[in-house]
Amino acid sequence: MNLLMCPVCREQLKLNDRTWRCDNQHSYDVAKQGYVNLHVVQHKHSKNPGDTPESVQARRAFLSAGHYAPLQQAVVKKIRDLRIENLLDIGCGEGYYTNAMQAEVLQCVGVDIAKNAVQVAAKLNKEITWVVATGATLPVLDHSIDLCTSLFSPIPEQEILRVLKPEGYLMVVTPAPDHLYAMREALFEEVKPHEPHKFVDQLAEGFDLVDEMVVDAPMILPQQDLKNLIAMTPYAYKVKAERREALEAQDQFEVKAQYQIYLFQKK
Ligand SMILES: C[S@@+](CC[C@H](N)C(=O)[O-])C[C@H]1O[C@@H](n2cnc3c(N)ncnc32)[C@H](O)[C@@H]1O
Ligand SMILES: [Zn+2]
Repeated sequence: MNLLMCPVCREQLKLNDRTWRCDNQHSYDVAKQGYVNLHVVQHKHSKNPGDTPESVQARRAFLSAGHYAPLQQAVVKKIRDLRIENLLDIGCGEGYYTNAMQAEVLQCVGVDIAKNAVQVAAKLNKEITWVVATGATLPVLDHSIDLCTSLFSPIPEQEILRVLKPEGYLMVVTPAPDHLYAMREALFEEVKPHEPHKFVDQLAEGFDLVDEMVVDAPMILPQQDLKNLIAMTPYAYKVKAERREALEAQDQFEVKAQYQIYLFQKK
């Protein structure tokens, strides 16, 4: 089944000879890297939105080293247990999690607003429909999706409710209170624990919380991995240069990643 929706007229898109087309003859070519850009000018606020190429590269290098594999495996296991057909990953980034989740479903769509991230992602897995689009207008049809995932990414609640089937699922992965605490202490004067539960409160109107889990991943990071981790987080924009340099001068650094997985079901 074709899940994609034309961003201009909201009709179904059908793929024919590397072009997605709706009945109103709006058409979108599949790029040579294997993704389609459905982020139309009308919905665009900036020319190159989303993560920068530097942070995409840093994230790819860090994740390839396997430090977040415990989270990837925990997420994959949860999806396997759901036994669902269609998955939409919102804010898929360079596709590390999307790639692993795809094996558990029949159809998988990965969406990100950052074209440079989707270009990198598309090389990973040809079974996934990779789309450049905004969470503000998710590029899939109404009531077509069994599970939306948002890992460290925006959660456009109303759009998620539109695209989910009745009783469909939403999985949110977000930093748990102690996530990278030692690293944040080294970088900033004042550190506050993350507050994942705010998402449960935010989503309470449209969703029931049906499962939650905390995943711990203790890490000993060699210097280059530590640099990549700093570069792929928002800390990179906020930290003072001298603090960052002092931390990056360490040969290795011990720190714990801690993630919160929430599984919601549409009311
Ligand atoms: C912290 S990254 C997480 C990427 C990936 N899920 C992961 O865990 O590796 C957040 C992603 O959300 C994307 N993003 C930000 N705003 C967005 C929006 N409005 N619509 C779609 N994606 C968005 C960014 O481009 C970025 O790739
Ligand atoms: Zn159209």
